[in-house]
Amino acid sequence: MNKPFSQACENNKGPILAVLQQYFADTQEVLEVGSGTGQHSVHFAAHLTHLQWHTSDRPINHVGIQQWLDDAQLSNLHSPLTLDLNHDWPVETVEAIYTANTLHIVSWQLVERFFAGVKQHLAPAGIVCIYGPFKYQGQFTSESNQRFDEFLKQQDSQSGIRDIELITQLAQRAGFTLLSDNQMPANNQLLVFKRHA
Ligand SMILES: C[S@@+](CC[C@H](N)C(=O)[O-])C[C@H]1O[C@@H](n2cnc3c(N)ncnc32)[C@H](O)[C@@H]1O
Repeated sequence: MNKPFSQACENNKGPILAVLQQYFADTQEVLEVGSGTGQHSVHFAAHLTHLQWHTSDRPINHVGIQQWLDDAQLSNLHSPLTLDLNHDWPVETVEAIYTANTLHIVSWQLVERFFAGVKQHLAPAGIVCIYGPFKYQGQFTSESNQRFDEFLKQQDSQSGIRDIELITQLAQRAGFTLLSDNQMPANNQLLVFKRHA
């Protein structure tokens, strides 16, 4: 059986890794929410060998993620946990959380649940890295993102590219400050949050 494959992941894994290398330099453990194909996890675990990378997703994606993990054979890369934002998280405390291209897929209610989960499960000095497209002051950063937003809403009216102001507000209320907003290729951002001191 062929492994699931995302060309976008192949394109963005290098630029994302460059930022993660900076922010996860002293991190020993990361939980990825919505691992998708599993490609990101293999690339990051292979290059961030000082940390343990825990994949997670809804069960429907577990077989595909496990195929990537089985081929990679990395001792610091762990089998997918069942983490559906509709339900409780399968972890107690994690040192860092990474998620890519999830907040525009799930409903706003689940975006809120994501931040509630982060608040509940992230360690006191923990870091949260969120990759994806965002709007600024209600404006798309490109025409292609606007078309993507229309496409998303046709698939599911609750999906859609989020306003960075609403995301940072939600994070703020959950106790997190935006450390950096990293401009990434193809009109995406990598947001890094840290708990308030
Ligand atoms: C566009 S994919 C992104 C996958 C991968 N992170 C990437 O960047 O290619 C969206 C991901 O969100 C996950 N997802 C959707 N609904 C979810 C939910 N309710 N709880 C957790 N993950 C969910 C999907 O299973 C999928 O892995």
